[in-house]
Amino acid sequence: MTEHDFILKSYNSNIEKGSVKWSSPSNIALVKYWGKKEHQIPENPSISFTLSDCKTITEVTFTKKEGNDFSFDIYFEGDKNEAFKPKIQTFFERIEKYMPFLRAYHFKIETSNTFPHSSGIASSASGMSAIALCLMSIERSFSEVEVTDKAFTQKASFLARLGSGSACRSIEGELVVWGKNESIADSSDLYGVKFEGEVHSNFKNYQDTILLVDKGEKQVSSTVGHNLMYGHPFAKERFAQAHDNLAKLKAVLASGDLKQFVEIVESEALTLHAMMMTSMPYFILMKPNTLEIINKIWAYRAKTNSKVCFTLDAGANVHVLYPDYEKENVLEFIKNELVSYCQNGHYICDQIGLGANQI
Ligand code: DP6
Repeated sequence: MTEHDFILKSYNSNIEKGSVKWSSPSNIALVKYWGKKEHQIPENPSISFTLSDCKTITEVTFTKKEGNDFSFDIYFEGDKNEAFKPKIQTFFERIEKYMPFLRAYHFKIETSNTFPHSSGIASSASGMSAIALCLMSIERSFSEVEVTDKAFTQKASFLARLGSGSACRSIEGELVVWGKNESIADSSDLYGVKFEGEVHSNFKNYQDTILLVDKGEKQVSSTVGHNLMYGHPFAKERFAQAHDNLAKLKAVLASGDLKQFVEIVESEALTLHAMMMTSMPYFILMKPNTLEIINKIWAYRAKTNSKVCFTLDAGANVHVLYPDYEKENVLEFIKNELVSYCQNGHYICDQIGLGANQI
């Protein structure tokens, strides 16, 4: 597939109005995307667990209009929201080549999250994938030829990527790869693909408890962060390492070797932050409590032989990952030893999920 294949060639332009609604989850990367080229092309491949309960629910109502400008309103949790407008404007500009009907309609976009807005959880993956899916449903209703489910999913992921890179990994579950990698057949820089390799039962219902260490605004936007990989002294090695880690993880997902899983996932998280600490300008996005939690997890693992581990996004919050069969013990550990490091004691229990749903 090339970009060209995603251009809608002909469509029925007589439809006056309609409404579509999707719920789309967040995802947590195991091998991290950090660094991109022009047009949202990743510098390295990534793989993520799709989450189940942390979701964005978006309804798009479209009405035929006159004029040639983009026209849309956004409502976030019931209130009109101006702050999201520039992001959607950029998104529309990036995708209009592939969706030539965008200027012919007014779009009312009503969106809400199942997780608290001020939680510091990035909503761009769930938010952008939900809008991309709504637009794809609209496109499907306009289309004069049958759109297969595969083509629908692929283009939804392609569009979501143009909104926010990691969003292209939120359409399907349970594991999604984005970025060309030799060990994954059909992998692409243009969209996410469902990981079709063997997955050991150890990973069934894998748990992710998100410890909300810092609910503040992001210190560094992801776009600024990605750009810091240009001219970064360790960029080349880092991108090569991500390819190796993905190939290694593929074998680990098949064998169920949780010791190696922990090593790859924690090393990826720390490497992501190491890249930020060694860029120019440099950043430390972990907080003292992030480190306290990491040390507690390591001590608990040493003491109990548990396979609990952590991963991080570009922020201070900690995703605690563990197998379903350890749920009772790890939740006890979290409540007894980790919750005190969370802002207002807040954390969110989630687990690996199956992807987005039309409502
Ligand atoms: C650290 O997808 O938010 O979470 O493409 O600029 O929107 P943009 O970036 P974004 O970057 C996410 C980076 C990450 C790692 C990951 O999810 O792979």
